[in-house]
Amino acid sequence: RPALRVAVLGCGVVGTEVVRLLTTQADDLASRVGARLELVGVAVRDVDVPRDPVVDRALLTADAEGLVEKADVVVELMGGLQPAKDLLLRAIEHGASVVTANKALLAQDGPVLYAAADAAGVDLYFEAAVAGAIPIVRPVRESLAGDHVRRVLGIVNGTTNYVLDRMATEGLDLEQAVKEAQSLGYAEADPTADVEGYDAAAKAAILASLAFHTRVSLDDVAREGITSVTADDVAWAERTGYVIKLLAIAERGETAAEDGSTTAGIQVRVHPALVPAGHPLAGVRGAFNAVFVEAEAAGELMFYGRGAGGQPTASAVLGDVVSVARHRVLGGRGPVESSYAALPVLPASAA
Ligand code: NDP
Ligand code: HSE
Repeated sequence: RPALRVAVLGCGVVGTEVVRLLTTQADDLASRVGARLELVGVAVRDVDVPRDPVVDRALLTADAEGLVEKADVVVELMGGLQPAKDLLLRAIEHGASVVTANKALLAQDGPVLYAAADAAGVDLYFEAAVAGAIPIVRPVRESLAGDHVRRVLGIVNGTTNYVLDRMATEGLDLEQAVKEAQSLGYAEADPTADVEGYDAAAKAAILASLAFHTRVSLDDVAREGITSVTADDVAWAERTGYVIKLLAIAERGETAAEDGSTTAGIQVRVHPALVPAGHPLAGVRGAFNAVFVEAEAAGELMFYGRGAGGQPTASAVLGDVVSVARHRVLGGRGPVESSYAALPVLPASAA
């Protein structure tokens, strides 16, 4: 079979590890997919920046637009809303299958991308956009599609979990701990997205959209980050038998109007919470994440693992690459999110 041409957009923390896996696991990937995955280019801002030796400099290009037109599979790991959105739309228009880890973009413009992928008949996969290495998008999007999800709750931001952990164990202040998280490759390009809860809110919006088959965007999520949490708060929590965690919660609820009528819908929020020291979430340390899902037939499910970092995230990205590549070889498509039921998204307070 002819090789499938793969373009990677972005060669930072995650992109570098994706290039490493595509390069070093090429034979295994070929046997799993049924065709070789040929890396045809890696788009970056600056081709002259020194990079990991695993990245063949001849593949680097600053012409991301030209690159996406040459590929069967486009993997977006640049981050940010633009030019990532236009590049993905361009790739889809050219018939490429697309994989992205860009939760900020999906939480803002997911419906546009889903509709474009649906119209073009191509796959749009994004396992790495929520909780790094943890398989959570696929279970919620596919495995639980026949069930009735009641609640999704958990720790979905590795940076803030790492920061709160370092504040508790080493007595670091927020700024010091954030610097460490940045140096370990956990934080977003602008770590404000992590500490102010935007990143967790974007992930909560994605999970809620999939779990409840409705459209939840970042603006629908009540959000409070960890910037007001002090070292004293963390120490006080510990003394009283609690751990402070940034939680993301999406659940079914209802609002009551003045006339007594109620509207059922879903509520989504992100905020710091006091978790009892004996609770499983209290034991989630460092940049690990954990997500609980409660569904009517399945009951309670728990997902746990590394929520950030280059290698763990690259694992999730490569899983998606293999899935979409298999579809190109064998035929078929993954799920489509362009039609949702009109389940209302209710206002949620970050209590
Ligand atoms: P980095 O900032 O480390 O890397 C971004 C890369 O994209 C760089 O190589 C940069 O080029 C390139 N880039 C940025 N803008 C452009 C542009 N306009 N044109 C061409 N190239 C561009 O980010 P990460 O690898 O950490 O994150 C990538 C994506 O993965 C983000 O969406 C992030 O939210 C997501 N993600 C990250 C995780 C993590 O743990 N880091 C985990 C899960 C998801 P140059 O090198 O020249 O600057
Ligand atoms: N900045 C994100 C985090 C990366 O810390 O969780 C993983 O999505």
